[in-house]
Amino acid sequence: MHNMNGKVCVVTGATSGVGRATAMILGSTGATVILVCRDRKRGEAIKKEIIRKTKNKNISVMFADFTYLHSIKQLAKKFKEHHQYLHILINNAGVLHSKRILTKDGYETTFQVNYLAPFLLTNLLLRVIKKSAPSRIVNVTSDEHIRGSIDFDNLHGEKHYGGYWAYARSKLALILFTYKLAEKLVGTKVTVNCVHPGSIATNIGRNSSGIMGLYFKVGKRFMKKPEQGAEEIVYLATSSEAEKVTGKYFIDKTISKSSKLSYDKVVADRLWKKTIDLIGKRFVIL
Ligand SMILES: NC(=O)c1ccc[n+]([C@@H]2O[C@H](COP(=O)([O-])OP(=O)(O)OC[C@H]3O[C@@H](n4cnc5c(N)ncnc54)[C@H](OP(=O)(O)O)[C@@H]3O)[C@@H](O)[C@H]2O)c1
Repeated sequence: MHNMNGKVCVVTGATSGVGRATAMILGSTGATVILVCRDRKRGEAIKKEIIRKTKNKNISVMFADFTYLHSIKQLAKKFKEHHQYLHILINNAGVLHSKRILTKDGYETTFQVNYLAPFLLTNLLLRVIKKSAPSRIVNVTSDEHIRGSIDFDNLHGEKHYGGYWAYARSKLALILFTYKLAEKLVGTKVTVNCVHPGSIATNIGRNSSGIMGLYFKVGKRFMKKPEQGAEEIVYLATSSEAEKVTGKYFIDKTISKSSKLSYDKVVADRLWKKTIDLIGKRFVIL
């Protein structure tokens, strides 16, 4: 394990599953780790647990609810008030909702939490990340993106909605974002990659009903442990092998091919512009 002393890392979705395990591993490397959580009590409890287990006192908690874009803006503001550097940003928080639920911003929840939120947070923190270079951004996606498509008239499930399809769409959007951002960051010594952590027994299926709910309930027994998924993320975030790699999709610590659609530059450009419309031009610095 690399010694990450002096490196500042942000992990979103650190209260559960893969994010929690990632934060624990990063804590054990000596890094300064900021756990981004929406539940204050659970966030503080996990912080204490990481400090106790790793003896690393540089663990702190910041709060944001990704179903509210304003909350992400406040998080970024607070982060910049307390930290001058950010070497590793891990966009891990994610959801899968069987039912279509709109956020406070009026967008579909899965699309906002899994895609709009990391897009916005990354942009808001990009100046600090660039200043901290060499630095890395890791976006946690899913191999389910393969079944996703970007229907610009149905991004929020306004015409028809299926939880699985919304999830696949959000994870495809995150990959399109990763590839386009990597292009924009060429020459900055900031890398951005995405990773499928594997099929992991976590809480991701908790908002699923019907066949999908059953899949998670039964399948959990056969899935990998959160620590195994976290290893994939930590590899991208800390390993010397991945240091200069950018704009790639990883499975099992190996550069892999994502869906054909994920490489479509016309779709990527259009999605980027549409995203700017949704989150506001002044929050996007590239
Ligand atoms: N598990 C798998 O098999 C699998 C496979 C491929 C990809 N992934 C991806 O891995 C990532 C981590 O998921 P997981 O499997 O570890 O699931 P998880 O156990 O449900 O963890 C998800 C994390 O995201 C947080 N989150 C959810 N909604 C949020 C919101 N509105 N604002 C802020 N944080 C929010 C959760 O906070 P709370 O604890 O407060 O709910 C939790 O910390 C996700 O991006 C997921 O899509 C998972």
